Amino acid sequence: MSSTSSATQLIRPAKNLFGSLRLPGDKSISHRYAMLAGLAEGTTRLTNFSTGADCASSLGCVAALGAKVEHKADGAIEVTGTAGSFQQPTGVLDCGNSGSTMRMMSGLLAPHPHTFTLIGDASLSRRPMERIRKPLEKMGARITLTDGHAPIMIQGGPLKAIDFDTPIPSAQVKTAVLFAGFQAEGTTSLSETVRTRDHGELALRAFGVELNRTADRISVRGGQKLKAINAAVPGDMSSAAFFLCAATLFPDSNLVLDGLGMNPTRAALLDVLTSFGAKFNVLNLEELNGELVGTVQISAPKDGLKGVEISGAWAAQLIDELPVLAAIASYSREGIRIRDAKELRVKESDRIALVAENLRAMGAVVTEHEDGLDVPGNQKLHGAQINSGGDHRIAMAFSVAALRAEGETVIHGADAAAISFPEFYSLLEQITER
Ligand code: S3P
Repeated sequence: MSSTSSATQLIRPAKNLFGSLRLPGDKSISHRYAMLAGLAEGTTRLTNFSTGADCASSLGCVAALGAKVEHKADGAIEVTGTAGSFQQPTGVLDCGNSGSTMRMMSGLLAPHPHTFTLIGDASLSRRPMERIRKPLEKMGARITLTDGHAPIMIQGGPLKAIDFDTPIPSAQVKTAVLFAGFQAEGTTSLSETVRTRDHGELALRAFGVELNRTADRISVRGGQKLKAINAAVPGDMSSAAFFLCAATLFPDSNLVLDGLGMNPTRAALLDVLTSFGAKFNVLNLEELNGELVGTVQISAPKDGLKGVEISGAWAAQLIDELPVLAAIASYSREGIRIRDAKELRVKESDRIALVAENLRAMGAVVTEHEDGLDVPGNQKLHGAQINSGGDHRIAMAFSVAALRAEGETVIHGADAAAISFPEFYSLLEQITER
């Protein structure tokens, strides 16, 4: 691998993946800790915080709202919160490329008696925001969108509790409602059709909020306060996905990932890769602030990957891992069938269209569906010019597919990886044998 410019990355075929890594902190958890720390009383110390640009956007927003954010010499981030009262920011809140920042911040901000404008880059400004406007307006917030999108203007003020049934499986929407709910008057309750990642619930508890969960509802009493915490952020499973998938492509691979987030609402990837034929050892499991963390060792299937179907609840739980699973599926025996994943069309890019376009560029046959993809197995891919569409997960997914292709692949817009995983190319190089 070598880069010709920061935006272009050349990937050469590999023989094997081998080594041991500890990955930067989980993006979803880092966002939530940054936001809650910004509103908490006291100084929160976070180690292994995500190094991605997205989480820097969340830190930037809480700083603009009056929190003090310090990057310490030992790599830790310390956030001294606003003790329950955000200030009126002097300018707009720039969420960059981060849907998580925009949606979850909206919930956290809405109860504060100021005017907020949240903006994002071109990709974020195309993504749907009605999904947070509806529940927050039901709670009494005044929110103006621009044709369903950012910029978002929030005229904040006291909110009242609601009972809400999330119409789409979205952890961001769930978290936005809970982040407003613990500050509202009354008890907010919420149900979801699919159990999405529960980092919002766990982070609230870690910061001292009482929250109840029954089989089908989560509820949180309003008027609660946050207290600063000390936390180590677990390694990011969605970043690990690229290396775990790459490892399954070569029968002699052996990869160990230490300190990896193993939250059951995020670990469906391990089940899928097991159905694909990979084998895992999980060691040193421990719980940190409610989050499960462990060491994962993967060995690749000796006789190649089988195939897999992903639909229903699995599609929602694996939403960030679907691009890389689709990208490697042509190398499996039976391929992949993905359905119920319409949300992929409104991520940082239209991930269904871009996965199909790039697989075709590598010579694969693919069928695109409104809510998924069919990628038949037993296909050989060749090196190609890949269009990341400025989407981090597309750039990284096709860097992985390129490792088993014949010939070299050029990833255009490779620098997008820095949105979630700036170390991706150097770590991939470190564990790739040629
Ligand atoms: C996230 C939830 C998912 C995911 C995103 C992070 C989160 O989005 O795709 O990368 O941290 O809650 P949705 O909630 O929109 O499905």
